Amino acid sequence: MLRLEIQSLSKQVADPSLAQSGRAAYQWARSHMPALTKTMENLSPKRPLEGRRIGTCLHITKETSVFIKGLMELGAEVFVAAANPLSTQDDVAAFLLSEGANVWAWRGETEEEYFDCIRSVLRSKPQVQVDDGADAHVVAHQENLSDKIVGGTEETTTGITRLKALEREGPLRYPIIGVNNAQTKFLFDNRYGTGQSTLDGVLRATSLLIAGKTVVICGYGWVGKGIARRARGLDGHVMITEVDPLRALEAHMDGFEVLPSIEAAPRGDLFITATGQTDVIREEHLKGMKDGAVLANAGHFDVEIDVDYLRKSATQIRTARPNLEEYVMPDGKRIYLIGKGRVANLVAAEGHPPEVMSMSFSNQLLSALYIIENHSKLQKKVIDVPAEIDRQVALNMLQASGLSIDNLTGEQIKYSQSWKI
Ligand code: ADE
Repeated sequence: MLRLEIQSLSKQVADPSLAQSGRAAYQWARSHMPALTKTMENLSPKRPLEGRRIGTCLHITKETSVFIKGLMELGAEVFVAAANPLSTQDDVAAFLLSEGANVWAWRGETEEEYFDCIRSVLRSKPQVQVDDGADAHVVAHQENLSDKIVGGTEETTTGITRLKALEREGPLRYPIIGVNNAQTKFLFDNRYGTGQSTLDGVLRATSLLIAGKTVVICGYGWVGKGIARRARGLDGHVMITEVDPLRALEAHMDGFEVLPSIEAAPRGDLFITATGQTDVIREEHLKGMKDGAVLANAGHFDVEIDVDYLRKSATQIRTARPNLEEYVMPDGKRIYLIGKGRVANLVAAEGHPPEVMSMSFSNQLLSALYIIENHSKLQKKVIDVPAEIDRQVALNMLQASGLSIDNLTGEQIKYSQSWKI
C-alpha cells in the first residue's frame, strides 16, 4: 500500500538515468562532507537508529542525500518530503528512492501536492521529525498527526520563530531542538552558505556582472551579512536596509551604506531580501524601481517580495531565462524576478555547498540521537542544541579540515578561574 502510494506520488520513479545522476551528485557531496561522514562512520557499528522511523522535511539536495543515506546506514527507516515546492533536485530524489528511502518529493509541486507529501511522511508515523521551515511540525500539530513523534528538530531561523509562537499559544506536543541556534550552524550555514549560494543563484539566473552594480540587501542578520560581503567581494556597491537599529549600526560600521528601502528602491540594480519578514519589497518600492531591476529572495518563505502585486499589475509576463521571469509594468518598465520569489539559492542554484551542510547536518544527526536518548526527560519546548554537541561538531570540522588548535595549560585554567588581584 505504502509503495503504491509512493510510486504514484514520486514522479522520478520510472527514470533510472535520473537515479544515476543523483548517485554521482551524492558521491561528490559525500566526499566534501568529512565531518558528517566521520561522525556517521564512528556511530554505524552500534546502529543507534536500528528500527527507528525518522521523518524528514528538507530541501532535497545532494547534501541532504548524504544525511538521509547516513540515517539509513545507522539503521533508520526514513520518510522524505521536500521543504519547498521548487527546491527538489529530481535526480537526488530518484537516487534516494532507488536506495530504499520513502520519498514524496519532486521539483514543481503545487502548494496542495507539497502539503500532501508532508502529510504522507507524517502518516508514516515517524518517531523523530526533522524539519526545515517548520511546515511538518505545524501540519503535525494542526492535523493531529503527531501521535508517535517523541521529538523533533528544526533547521532554520524562520522555523524556530514559528515554533516559538506555537509554543506560546501551545501546547507544543513534543520537544524540538532548534538546530539553527547552534553556533556551528548559524555562523557558517547562514553566513557563508547562504552568502555564497544566493549569489550563485543570482549569477546562474541572470549571468550578469555584479561589479559596478548597486546591490540592495534587505536585512543584516547572518544571512544578510554573508550576502553583503560576497556582493562587495564581487565589487558591487552594497546598500543595506534594516529595521533593527543595532544591525543597521553594524552594517554602517562594516562599511555599507544604510538607508530606508524607499530611498534604495530607485537606486538599486539588484535587490536581495534576507529578513524572514513579509512584504519587504512591496508596491511602493516596486513603483520606484529602475527599468531592468532584478529581485531575488534568500528568506525561507516566498513572502518577502510582493509577487502577487507584480503578477496582477504586469501587462506582460514572460520567462527571460531559466528561473528568471520578466514583468512588464504599466509604465513600460521591466522588473526581473528570480525563482518566483522563492529561495533563490535552492531554486536557481544548488543550495549551500557541502562543506557547510556537513556541519548543519552533523547538528541535525546528533540532535536526533539526543532526542531519541533523552526525550522522556525533556520539556515540550523549543530547546537549544546542547553545547557539547556544538563543540563536538566544531572539533570534528577542524579535524576534517586538517587543523589543530592549542590547549590551555594547567596554569591558564587556574588563571581563568581565579578572581583575586
Ligand atoms: N538549505 C540550504 N542549502 C541546502 C542544501 N544544500 N541542502 C539542504 N538544505 C539546504
